[in-house]
Amino acid sequence: MTVSVVLVTVVWALREPPPSQPRTDETATGALTPEKIPLVTGDESLIDIFTRPGCPVCHIIPGIPSATGQVGPPLVLSTTGAQRLKDPGYRGEAKTVHEYIVESVLDPQRFVVQGYPAHTMPTWYGSKLSALALEKIAAYLERQTAGDSVP
Ligand code: HEC
Repeated sequence: MTVSVVLVTVVWALREPPPSQPRTDETATGALTPEKIPLVTGDESLIDIFTRPGCPVCHIIPGIPSATGQVGPPLVLSTTGAQRLKDPGYRGEAKTVHEYIVESVLDPQRFVVQGYPAHTMPTWYGSKLSALALEKIAAYLERQTAGDSVP
């Protein structure tokens, strides 16, 4: 009996946001604006290098806790990278998977992975990620395989 009273109270309380918290219509991804993202120098931990710019919001990244986003493809480029470069629709300039990752982060529109939305990944990472950070991102992602993404 007490339990159900508590439950009803909780459900009731969750119906409306408390008046002290203003409603925002920002989605998780809409909150990612360049002003809110600090510069990533590359000296941070690997987890911070991926987490600060918000990659986990949209991507599964093996080994990065909380990186369970499904807006973009799982970042398992050891498995998927070669296919991208061979894709007849690929018009980028990358010759290696490493280069492809860097290109994908700096210029996401260059090649839009089939089955995923265009104009969704931020296009301003070039101004937020140092060359070292980008290098570490590419070096890490090119080693990840699809098997790793299944816990
Ligand atoms: C708001 C969502 C969003 C965020 C944040 C985001 N991405 Fe993406 N990303 C996507 C989508 C959608 C695609 C697929 C469409 C495309 O290729 O542009 C993609 C594609 C990619 C690809 C190509 C993957 C493949 O399988 O070919 C890489 C690499 C990548 N993202 C890396 C990153 C990294 C690194 C970060 C953080 C610095 C990041 N993304 C942040 C949405 C996002």
